[in-house]
Amino acid sequence: MINFSQLAEKYQTPLYIYDFNKISQQYESLKLAFKARKAILAYAVKSNSNLSVVKHLAKLGAGADCVSIGEVRRALMAGIPRYKIIFSGVGKQDHEIKEALESDILFINLESEAELGRVEMIAEDLNIKARISVRVNPNIDPKTHPYISTGLHGNKFGVDLNMAKRMYLKAKNSEHLDPVGIHFHIGSQLTELEPIREAAVIVADLVRTLQAVDIELKFFDIGGGIGVKYDDEVTIDPNEYAQAILGTLTGLDMTIMCEPGRFLTANAGYFLTRVMYEKQNDEKRFVIVDGGMNDLLRPALYSAYHKIEAIDNDGEISPADIVGPVCESGDFFAKDTQLPSFNHNDLIVVHSAGAYGFGMGSNYNTRGRSAEVAIEDGNDRLIRRRETFEDLVALEEEFLK
Ligand code: LLP
Repeated sequence: MINFSQLAEKYQTPLYIYDFNKISQQYESLKLAFKARKAILAYAVKSNSNLSVVKHLAKLGAGADCVSIGEVRRALMAGIPRYKIIFSGVGKQDHEIKEALESDILFINLESEAELGRVEMIAEDLNIKARISVRVNPNIDPKTHPYISTGLHGNKFGVDLNMAKRMYLKAKNSEHLDPVGIHFHIGSQLTELEPIREAAVIVADLVRTLQAVDIELKFFDIGGGIGVKYDDEVTIDPNEYAQAILGTLTGLDMTIMCEPGRFLTANAGYFLTRVMYEKQNDEKRFVIVDGGMNDLLRPALYSAYHKIEAIDNDGEISPADIVGPVCESGDFFAKDTQLPSFNHNDLIVVHSAGAYGFGMGSNYNTRGRSAEVAIEDGNDRLIRRRETFEDLVALEEEFLK
């Protein structure tokens, strides 16, 4: 049991809290599901890029799936071995490609033919052979929120099957490219297994086609996307997930790469905020808290549901919106939800906030971002200090005329 009141006293609010033991449990359950094969769980750093979180996963043996050179640097700083780091993303800049190649990470995921050309040129300049993989867009509807669906041709991600073949042939014939992997990721917060299995079948078939022309890939990268329970979703069982994937790989001797983000971090995280005021506008009741959309954007951006818990409160229940102090009507954590009456400084916990919470935060309204705290084996420790006003103006101050 996490003592939220004590943590609020010690670290102030708003506050992110991550249960590292829970992250370990999630990691181990997925790792176990894939035990029948060589498998690397490459943590999707974007889901929560705090260095201590990444280090915790490094200690468990995780690799890292990175989408910017900044994330690659974080992964290396946190102790993820370079040979377990991959670099994906539709728009990598030349300097990022160069640094990734110089860092000798496991491979770069290519998302277009044009990008293949850039990587080849940069590898030639460095006089090396770049290990690459191609992100295939299998044109499968993952049945998730449109903003986090990525596996349809209408999405900007990856390339179609024909283009993928062309790129592999080009890579094979290049002195500076070494095709080692194949990648797909059809979306995030997936709760249905069938679309993932269908995508794996398509991509595994492509692997076999490529074998026929002497292109032997070593890594079968199935992306991330396993959904979690925010509410009462029925989620994918890790064992069934692994079985579905492995079932498509008969006869292929490949290492599985999996890129879980949310599955590892979402339900290990809590966002703790204090009630400042209550107000009634006509019939409508608002609870105004000290955390805002700049801290946790998911409700505003995706109308995402996060379970709300009032701490130590047995006040009378009635419906209310929980809103933050930011000057936007979209600044809310819950709408028309049943809540007890509050007093000034009462605590509210927003659940499942460990993934895409802090990382999507901003300084909008000149609000410093929250502190972050880890809990491990019953002990708490600060893993990021609260931002101050001085932090916020530091990059502008010297230019004041
Ligand atoms: N691999 C690739 C190539 C990805 O694009 C993503 C997520 C992942 C792995 C990790 O997916 P996960 O296991 O966490 O579902 N901000 C949104 C989620 C965006 C996901 C983007 N890509 C949200 O708050 O729901």
